[in-house]
Amino acid sequence: MNVLLTSDQIQKRIRELGSEIEADHPANEEIHLVGVLKGGFMFMADLVRSMSARVTLDFIAVSSYQRSTRSSGEVRLVKDLDSGLEGRHVVIVEDIVDTGLTLTYLQDILRARSPKTLRTACLLSKPSRRQVDVRVEYIGFTIEDRFVVGYGLDYAEKYRNLAHIAVLDGD
Ligand code: IMP
Ligand code: MG
Repeated sequence: MNVLLTSDQIQKRIRELGSEIEADHPANEEIHLVGVLKGGFMFMADLVRSMSARVTLDFIAVSSYQRSTRSSGEVRLVKDLDSGLEGRHVVIVEDIVDTGLTLTYLQDILRARSPKTLRTACLLSKPSRRQVDVRVEYIGFTIEDRFVVGYGLDYAEKYRNLAHIAVLDGD
């Protein structure tokens, strides 16, 4: 496997994203981060540690990929949030935006819960794969159309624990 992004590169970029997110929200107002399981768990863990604003967090789980490197195009809600979003400053925290179908679905269902603001942070983006035009305010790295693993991202549930991001062999 070829390393695409080292742990140091990822950590540095996440600190920048954390500052950007804080700068975009009114001082002293709470920021509610919604992590998308499972891929977004490591990004979420490092992002919250890079922030000094008042932060709360929750997790949601969706499923779109079934043991394959290809998307089925179908998004299913697997685990809902524990608390409501009304009047809150919400930021979705996701590992990667690929076709955009997952985030479009998530933004639609979360927007319907009347947050005060709704923004999205993705560590990675593969713009060449986009099928729907989805708005993502914070993007860590724009990458080519390669299947990547590590730092939360999996292939058949493997490699999520890597501290770096690698291109899967054969892709
Ligand atoms: P989308 O709905 O096509 O944008 O896909 C989003 C989801 O597909 C992400 O949350 C990932 O779980 C998964 N995914 C997309 N590209 C990759 C990849 O290169 N490696 C691992 N998972 C990926
Ligand atoms: Mg994901």
